[in-house]
Amino acid sequence: MTTPAVNIRSDEFLDTPVECLAHIRQQAAVCPTAPDGWMLVTRHDLVKQILLDAETYSSRVSKHSAPPAEAADEIAAIRAQGWPYTSALGGSDAPQHTKHRQMVNKAFTPRALQSLEPLVRQAAEDLASALPDGVEIDFQAEFGEPLPVWAISKVLGLPMERRNDIRRWSTAAISTIGSNPTPEQWVKFEEDLLDYQLAMKAVLDANRVDPQPGVIAGLAQAIADEDAAEGEGVQMSLLLTLLRELVVAGNETTGKFIAEAIRIFGSDETVWERIRENPDFAVVVVEEALRLSSPTQSIMRVTTKDVVLDGVAIPKGTQIMASLASANRDEVVYDESNRFDPDRDNVRQHLAFGGGAHMCIGAGLARMESIVALQVLAEQVTSIVASADSGAYSRSFIIRGPLEMRATVHRR
Ligand code: HEM
Repeated sequence: MTTPAVNIRSDEFLDTPVECLAHIRQQAAVCPTAPDGWMLVTRHDLVKQILLDAETYSSRVSKHSAPPAEAADEIAAIRAQGWPYTSALGGSDAPQHTKHRQMVNKAFTPRALQSLEPLVRQAAEDLASALPDGVEIDFQAEFGEPLPVWAISKVLGLPMERRNDIRRWSTAAISTIGSNPTPEQWVKFEEDLLDYQLAMKAVLDANRVDPQPGVIAGLAQAIADEDAAEGEGVQMSLLLTLLRELVVAGNETTGKFIAEAIRIFGSDETVWERIRENPDFAVVVVEEALRLSSPTQSIMRVTTKDVVLDGVAIPKGTQIMASLASANRDEVVYDESNRFDPDRDNVRQHLAFGGGAHMCIGAGLARMESIVALQVLAEQVTSIVASADSGAYSRSFIIRGPLEMRATVHRR
């Protein structure tokens, strides 16, 4: 029996993904989507199978929507002034993917993160100390967002005065992923992305002359080495895309996650108390909040051969939307899957960071930032209560999270 297609671009799906996915999961583990004609996969075991089989499920698929026809010429003219968009990590397969990952891997080793931790803690303490007591604030703007922007700037070696630009560039980069901006918005996003390319090219050039600590200097050196060897050269378009992926992924998901975690358990004083008494408790709190929030709601793949998933025949070349958000609430794996329970036995079994070859390169960084954030906040607050109407969410079936988080901090 064919399952009816799910409209993943409908207001209902974008506004209430948890409810919609629960309903779909009950009907089918694999079902077609409308209007795109993809295959949506909702079950934990099948999503995991897809993540772990990069040969059958290729990442060479664009996550961006197509530009609207009305603005196509204007967008093409803006793009012509910069470097072509290419695929670096997220949109590539081995062997290119392996090579690109090696170019940036060492910035994310446990050792590298360990040396960054005291700095992240200091930044978190500064931000937490500035939070006012007993008045409604936008917690996302005052805490959730600045911390990851600060951390990824450090990791990359991006000048700190660029911090405000990161927000604008990231918004532009993700706004066409899994959502449909208006033609006017598209043009603005393209202008911001051109601005990003020009600014980042200047930073790469500056690092060739005067290397600063961080990933950027290493990449600038990679260009210099290839030039010296008269090889085919590391293309500027590749480096700009690679850095864009790191800049965007490095703050969008983590910033949204920290705010969403607060919405999930922030009003529960016992959670804050337990973190205060045992700072390691923050580790499982973060894992459980990651499961429930799934900041990356789904990952995209394309089949490289005919496959059968849960009895559904899927031809080669079919685009697959594997729902991490659905897998993370699969009732077969998690008892009372909608309940926040950091003490559950399988708290680390979630797929919020994906898995396999493309498993999030920044998972360690995101975990460290989030754990440190909760530990620092626990020392300073008794609770953080999200307002009944806490604000808007990004309406995307790929990257979802609060755009703002109105909440009241109760200081100790
Ligand atoms: C809570 C925060 C985060 C979540 C939930 C998250 C989630 C994910 C997921 C699910 C993937 C896999 C995508 C796929 O398989 O197609 C991924 C990949 C990636 N993430 Fe994260 N991420 C987070 C934070 C970060 C941070 C802090 C960075 C910092 C650099 C980062 C950089 C990346 C990159 C570059 C990739 C592509 C990796 C590849 O394709 O090899 N992420 N992330």
